[in-house]
Parts: sequence; C-alpha cells; structure tokens
Amino acid sequence: MDPSEFQSFLASRRSVREYEEGGITVEEKDYILSAASACPTAGNLEAWDVVIVSDEGQLEVLSDAAGGQRQMLESGCAFVVCANYVRSMSRYGERGILYAVQDATIAATYMMLAAHAIRLQTCWMGAFDEAAVKEVLELPAHVRPVAILSVGAGSVSPASPGRMDPEDHAHYDIWEE
Ligand SMILES: Cc1cc2nc3c(=O)[nH]c(=O)nc-3n(C[C@H](O)[C@H](O)[C@H](O)COP(=O)(O)O)c2cc1C
Repeated sequence: MDPSEFQSFLASRRSVREYEEGGITVEEKDYILSAASACPTAGNLEAWDVVIVSDEGQLEVLSDAAGGQRQMLESGCAFVVCANYVRSMSRYGERGILYAVQDATIAATYMMLAAHAIRLQTCWMGAFDEAAVKEVLELPAHVRPVAILSVGAGSVSPASPGRMDPEDHAHYDIWEE
C-alpha cells in the first residue's frame, strides 16, 4: 500500500448505522480479532477483551443499554471492547487503569479498520449505560466496557461529515492558541 492509498483507505471509512441482514462470518470475525491482537499495548499486557454479541435477545438488551441505538440490532453483531484493569494494574498499579482504557481503545480502532479492510462497515458507540452493559454481559468488576462497535454489511453509504483542518489540531513545541 502506498502512502496515498493509506490515506484514501482511512478517509473512505464511515460510521454506518443501517445494515443488511445476516451478521458476519466466522472468518470475518477471526480476521478482525487477529488485527486487534496486533495493536500496540502497554507493557505487551494486552489489557483488553471483547465480548462479541450476536444473540438477538442480548442485542436487544444491549441496544436498550445504549439508549435505544439500533445499529447493533441492524447489523446482527456487536463487538463490546473492554478494558481489563486487573491485567494492567498487576504491573502498573493506578496508572494501569489509564493504560487498560488506552489498550481497549486502540484495539477497538484496529477492529474498526480491519472491518473496513474486508469491506464491512462499523459504527463506534460510546453512548451507553456502563452499568447496564456490564449487567447484560455479566462482566466482572475489573472489566470496563469502553466501546461498542456494530459490525456488518452496511446498506447505506453516508457522505463524509467533513472535518476540521488537520492543522487546527496541531500545536508546536508549546500550546499556543
Ligand atoms: C468516542 C466515540 C463515541 C461515539 N459514539 C457514538 C454513538 O454513541 N452513537 C453513534 O451513532 N455514533 C457514535 N460515534 C460515531 C461518530 O458519530 C462518528 O465517528 C462521527 O460522526 C464522524 O463520522 P465518521 O465516523 O463517518 O467519520 C462515536 C465515535 C467515537 C469515536
């Protein structure tokens, strides 16, 4: 992949909220998981886990826990990416909390991009009731849900919502307005 192909690949990903029926295949799931396991991770501790939800009843309750967002019901598959505090805190103490959240976030990012690479669509969801998600997935106390990704074959192709000028994010040497 040349540099411009890489930029086009990134720029062509969109959050998709409507899907064809059918979910994803085992091969697609494996591809996404393999990509995530290549992500950088603090101390190589891989302080992330994922609950892959395809059961319709579970997806209904998960959707309720996300304020009624229907993307995961539409796609028939949700990846709930979690920070595993114990795995990271066992070495890093309190700092491990932040590292585990960072690990889970980058793992979710790799999953999202891996799905894009195999022409599936995703929608990252951060708006959900953590306690409700923990309850429905029976997550242990030391596991925090960080992001939910709906994953499937999208049925729409949204236009780019536009972005800030990249330079508006950049500060050089010190923070200057
Ligand atoms: C941290 C985070 C939280 C988000 N939460 C939601 C969400 O709860 N529901 C939703 O529909 N989209 C959510 N999104 C998707 C954004 O709305 C979307 O990325 C943004 O509008 C830009 O569109 P694009 O992904 O197509 O570039 C979230 C994205 C991120 C990174």
